[in-house]
Amino acid sequence: MSRGIWCFLWLVVFVWGSRSVPSCPCQDPTLCVPIARHRDFEVYVFDIGGQNWKSYDWSQVTTVATFGKYDPELMCYAHSKGSRVVLKGDVLLKNIIDPKNRTDWITQQVDLAKTQFMDGINLDIEQEVIKGSPEYYALTALVEETVEAFHREIQGSQVTFDVAWSPKCVDIRCYNYTAIANACDFLFVMSYDEQSQIWTECVAGANAPYTWTLDGYDEYISMNIDPKKLVMGVPWYGYDYKCLNLSKDHKCTLHKVPFRGAPCSDAAGNQVAYRAMMKQINSSISGRLWDDQQKAPFYEYKDAEGIDHQVWYDDPESISLKAAYVQKLGLRGIGMWNGDLLDYSDDPIAEQQTEAMWKALRPSL
Ligand SMILES: *[C@@H]1O[C@H](CO)[C@@H](O)[C@H](O)[C@H]1NC(C)=O
Ligand SMILES: *[C@@H]1O[C@H](CO)[C@@H](O)[C@H](O)[C@H]1NC(C)=O
Ligand SMILES: *[C@@H]1O[C@H](CO)[C@@H](O)[C@H](O)[C@H]1NC(C)=O
Ligand SMILES: *[C@@H]1O[C@H](CO)[C@@H](O)[C@H](O)[C@H]1NC(C)=O
Repeated sequence: MSRGIWCFLWLVVFVWGSRSVPSCPCQDPTLCVPIARHRDFEVYVFDIGGQNWKSYDWSQVTTVATFGKYDPELMCYAHSKGSRVVLKGDVLLKNIIDPKNRTDWITQQVDLAKTQFMDGINLDIEQEVIKGSPEYYALTALVEETVEAFHREIQGSQVTFDVAWSPKCVDIRCYNYTAIANACDFLFVMSYDEQSQIWTECVAGANAPYTWTLDGYDEYISMNIDPKKLVMGVPWYGYDYKCLNLSKDHKCTLHKVPFRGAPCSDAAGNQVAYRAMMKQINSSISGRLWDDQQKAPFYEYKDAEGIDHQVWYDDPESISLKAAYVQKLGLRGIGMWNGDLLDYSDDPIAEQQTEAMWKALRPSL
């Protein structure tokens, strides 16, 4: 055979071979081995992309759920710290009622995780589901089958599921919570957006009021869900509300934006990053105020058009109160939406604020 043909054959084998066995992007190839070690306490971080992950507090992080573009450098780095990196999983429930479609979707996710040397998946399915509907059963089956496939195909992998702050059909998410919790490694409880359905007076309130947050965990636990299956999610963002009327006693009336059957919701406001609020608060009219009933900070300002705004958020004080409850109830851990909302610049004030937010996750340390 001529040299040309040899070259061609070599190329075919090379291209075919490299497709079936993806090569490890890490300098140290052992870093492509999935993490099998289990940790007693989870610190679960959602990452939405970019380079901020380089500044996370890696002495705490145990899992990074990558909701941005896949970054092999992040995977290598996380593995070097013994931390997991997991996929985001979302699919239209009406398409996976069919068992074959469901299996196809799960197979795709496992293959993707394998080619990217990842350690599991976070199922973030926030769709409306009515109890007893075909979607209700399909969702439970989806979680059970995803866990089975991941655990079988990737040793030590982690499959988790995101739930609303309360299991009481919040946002019409009427799921079989007990079965889902039993099947997966743990639930990430999104203890935020708790004003997504305002049934009482249409006024601005805290993103994650203390007592509502704790009530949510009591409700999950009273359904016989093991506290070790619950990771508390805290917000690193707040809501900026335009007030129709702002009273002297800080009552900010909102225009009505309905959500999933409720007449009024936090959709009347805009979500704002902690780093943005920290830049604004010192120039606000009120400065930082504290609502002792909701145990949350807020502030008020006037915009360029003279309209009053009220901004509700969480800071180290409100977060450490909730984090103390994680220890008290013996939950599996804590995490946040999301890791990229802090100011990771080298500005000294920002550095201090960012460090305080990370520290608030483990108030007892
Ligand atoms: C299967 O999923 C696809 C989308 O991935 C969808 O178009 C199709 O309707 C689904 N089939 C069934 C039977 O649900
Ligand atoms: C939830 O799922 C479990 C396990 O599949 C089942 O035994 C139970 O009856 C379901 N509960 C409801 C309320 O559907
Ligand atoms: C706004 O609030 C004040 C009390 O602070 C009240 O007197 C006034 O009637 C309210 N205006 C509207 C439009 O609701
Ligand atoms: C805002 O004020 C507080 C308290 O006076 C201070 O500690 C903080 O550094 C200030 N923040 C900025 C961004 O200047």
